[in-house]
Amino acid sequence: MKAIVYTQYGPPDVLQVKEVEKPAPNDGEILVKIHAASANPLDWHLMRGAPFLARLAGGLRKPKDPRLGADIAGRVEAVGNNVTQFQPGDEVFGACTGSFAEYASVPENTLALKPTKSSFEQAAAVPVAAITALQGLRDKGHIQPGQKVLVNGASGGVGTFAVQIAKAFGAEVTGVCSTRNVDMVRSIGADHVIDYTQEDFTRNGQHYDLIYDAVGNRSVSDYKRALNPKGTCAIAGFQSLPRLFEHMVLGPLMSKTGNKKVGLMGIAKMNQKDLVYMKELLEAGKVVPVIERKRADGDHCILAWEGIRAFLLSVLSLSGEPLLAASKRCGRCTHILLHLLRCESRIPAKAYANHVFPALFGPINTVNGFTSNSASLITPRLRTDTFM
Ligand SMILES: NC(=O)c1ccc[n+]([C@@H]2O[C@H](COP(=O)([O-])OP(=O)(O)OC[C@H]3O[C@@H](n4cnc5c(N)ncnc54)[C@H](OP(=O)(O)O)[C@@H]3O)[C@@H](O)[C@H]2O)c1
Repeated sequence: MKAIVYTQYGPPDVLQVKEVEKPAPNDGEILVKIHAASANPLDWHLMRGAPFLARLAGGLRKPKDPRLGADIAGRVEAVGNNVTQFQPGDEVFGACTGSFAEYASVPENTLALKPTKSSFEQAAAVPVAAITALQGLRDKGHIQPGQKVLVNGASGGVGTFAVQIAKAFGAEVTGVCSTRNVDMVRSIGADHVIDYTQEDFTRNGQHYDLIYDAVGNRSVSDYKRALNPKGTCAIAGFQSLPRLFEHMVLGPLMSKTGNKKVGLMGIAKMNQKDLVYMKELLEAGKVVPVIERKRADGDHCILAWEGIRAFLLSVLSLSGEPLLAASKRCGRCTHILLHLLRCESRIPAKAYANHVFPALFGPINTVNGFTSNSASLITPRLRTDTFM
């Protein structure tokens, strides 16, 4: 089978499409034919080996595991011994190691039946981002109906799910995002939206019972200022190492004084129970993966709010044409690509584009050789203020 693999850390040109052995499901595993795979900042961190902390898990000098990608949706092809809940033909979604491939062998506990009515693309957008939002709000934030909840980074992969999940819990939700995403965040149910380019949510006099931060760019004092008495701030996002250490060390320390709690939510733990929980929210129409479809010379471009994932997915799996050609016909797509490329470096986009476009489009064009409906490879959308 074809798979995206990498043997060294670096920019997207370390990724190669290779013919590798099709996995066989071990005991308790399910072999899934992948129809859609989405990308997360996690994949970017693992690809770059950055920050250096990522290498503690992934391999110090080079990646221990050449496979990349976590989120999948697809169809069960075969099951290993002791698998009781799935059978060949089932449509499933979940998380694994190596989702940027035609097949993956997935532990039973990180897989669930795909929500009925959701497309494979929608389902593939759910696992990592939605489970992170759910566990942060519910397990770290102890969200309650009627609470005032603020989601920082409400327009991102995690944030768009956090807004909708918080609404499903019965909270009054304020989303924080940039100007261009204000309408979208309102459209997914946020009661109030703050444009962070115009207003600082920590200094506008408003207070919240729960702050869920999918950006991680504010100081512990900022969070405490914006919290109501007995309020909690759960931080999921990573902005920089100094901020991470501040949240990790100062957060718990400063939470000892007063009655406001600030802390990291920790790493989300993928599990079937929470996937089923999300499946039910999707089936009830309470949560919809946020994907904006745009027409450009036919139905070639889908732009995804929760990352670049569905955009590239559509270019790859719907149009089946070279990415560069498609992006040329849609100004905004080109913009997003340049944005992505600039994320890869602090050097000017034009110079970087000349250098990286050929490398990036090599592997991506090759992915077009996959059978229709097979996996896509993409790089995640990243925080603009850190990288641009
Ligand atoms: N703890 C865990 O287990 C876990 C799991 C998954 C992800 N994460 C982390 O969670 C974070 C978010 O992931 P994601 O998939 O949602 O990433 P994403 O799709 O790239 O979203 C990031 C969002 O941050 C927003 N943003 C950037 N600067 C901002 C600012 N100054 N104020 C408010 N919002 C700002 C962007 O909004 P605009 O586009 O509107 O500017 C963007 O929508 C990442 O740091 C990721 O590493 C943690």
